Amino acid sequence: MQLRRCAVLLIEPREHLEFDLRVLFQGDAAFATCIAWVALAPHVDDEVELTVDDLPILARIGETLWLDRETLPATFDPARVDALLDAGILIGDQPTHAAHRKRDERVRDAHWRGLSAVAHAFSRWQGQRADIDPGTDGFANVREMVEALGAPPSETISRAPASAHIALPMPRRSGIDAALFSRYTGRNYDLAATLPIATAARLLQRTFGAQAQRELGPGAIALKKTSPSGGSLHPIEAYVLAQRVEGVGPGLYHYQPLAHTLEPMQALDTAAASALALRFVAGQHWFADAPMLVVLAARVRRNFWKYRNHPKAYRAIVLDAGHLSQTFYLLAAEAGLPAFITAAVNEVDIEQALGLDPIDDAVIAVLGCGRAANESTTVEFRGDA
Ligand SMILES: Cc1cc2nc3c(=O)[nH]c(=O)nc-3n(C[C@H](O)[C@H](O)[C@H](O)COP(=O)(O)O)c2cc1C
Repeated sequence: MQLRRCAVLLIEPREHLEFDLRVLFQGDAAFATCIAWVALAPHVDDEVELTVDDLPILARIGETLWLDRETLPATFDPARVDALLDAGILIGDQPTHAAHRKRDERVRDAHWRGLSAVAHAFSRWQGQRADIDPGTDGFANVREMVEALGAPPSETISRAPASAHIALPMPRRSGIDAALFSRYTGRNYDLAATLPIATAARLLQRTFGAQAQRELGPGAIALKKTSPSGGSLHPIEAYVLAQRVEGVGPGLYHYQPLAHTLEPMQALDTAAASALALRFVAGQHWFADAPMLVVLAARVRRNFWKYRNHPKAYRAIVLDAGHLSQTFYLLAAEAGLPAFITAAVNEVDIEQALGLDPIDDAVIAVLGCGRAANESTTVEFRGDA
């Protein structure tokens, strides 16, 4: 039997602190340290806990050349080699190993940079609730955070003495200012309001639509959009979750940027669409109420075609998403609407709903917009506030 290591593997020595009363009575610090060796491989959905004995095995078996199992040192415990094969950390050539082998080959073919693949795969959520488990670690509000943590680093810094500062002229007002100044993250959407189709269509076309195209080489078509994109590749696809869009039934759609069409993927009833929206944005009901949500998911192979195993490629994809988001926000502001972006999303649930594989399609964020409710119950940061 032939085997090799999986293409991408990060082994994290993860410390667990355990409270140890015996140590406390001896007069030492009451914590005992335990280090677990955790294997993170992006073609395997779950973390795999290793034993110390696995480390020499993994140090011996490389990810490129296939080895005959018979040639492994006799000191390697066969049961551990089997366990690593079962977990997909080692890849075998037998039919029983086919599932892990195929996913490992997908990672190789996609040209993910190893660290980026691990970072993406293991920062995905499933069924998380950002509304009850916020990044504020259980603090009710910012005042409580400041009391416990102290104030955050200051809102601005200075890198030169005041005497050296060069005063700049204040900019004159111009056409783009109205949208820039009225842009804000909306957290109070009017549940009775439907998004007019003309507004939805303009937002989608001007953010995600192709304004022009050019053949850069045989079969290599670059789309021109209103936002820049690393390598001019525009790998990010827009998937619409329509809840209350005029003339568009509740459901999931893919936006086609050349034809400017919505491609139906799954029709939903209102309750199902609302439940999915809530799940997508990890329980953030203040966003789930928006009539239109847009999932940004990158076809990573399009970027990695040019930026193969590149250390900056994933960063460029995330930055692409940020540019699209700001364009979307400004168009919404122009239409008199608040918008939102959130990275606190349940990527795994989104992948399942849209039929995406994270090796090929990286869910990055969810956007949305809609008419603001008259009543404001969740805090917002409006320019005039
Ligand atoms: C990358 C990114 C992620 C964000 N994620 C969330 C989020 O998960 N939940 C939320 O309520 N707001 C989220 N926001 C919105 C910010 O909280 C908001 O931009 C900030 O409070 C400033 O308000 P403004 O956009 O109205 O100026 C996010 C913004 C960005 C750019």
